[in-house]
Amino acid sequence: MVYDHLMEDIIRIASEKYFLDIDGIHGIGHWKRVKENGLRLASLNAADHSVIEHFAYLHDSCRVSEGIDNEHGKRAAEFIRTIRSSVKLTDKQFELLYEACFDHTDGKVKADITVMTCWDADRLDLYRIGTRPRVYLLCTLEAKKPEVIEWASQRAWPK
Ligand SMILES: [Fe+2]
Repeated sequence: MVYDHLMEDIIRIASEKYFLDIDGIHGIGHWKRVKENGLRLASLNAADHSVIEHFAYLHDSCRVSEGIDNEHGKRAAEFIRTIRSSVKLTDKQFELLYEACFDHTDGKVKADITVMTCWDADRLDLYRIGTRPRVYLLCTLEAKKPEVIEWASQRAWPK
């Protein structure tokens, strides 16, 4: 289990919901890197840190396949509505989290800055499956920087 005191309850809820191997390619190591990616981007733009942290731990929680699973974002969005009382976000933040989860599988590149930063945080971790993040599929200027892609990819590559 990843130790993250402030997000402890959310990590537990996401882990209990998760059907796949928690140590697999869409599991907790990925969630943690998505958080780190997102917070690095958020230090450079106006994205909401709390929304990013929740997205990191919840966006893949409803995957049922390590392969193609196009509906898992929509399932995650519906799932977070069922745990609304455990999600310590304002209604405005929650709607951003919902949108970020719902649409993160559709390859979109335009949205609110917080939503785009969530998507980029996820896409920057693609190298864990051998795919370099493609600039045209990243949303924010911060994520498109070569040094950011390189930094994220170095961490994503399985050790
Ligand atoms: Fe992901």
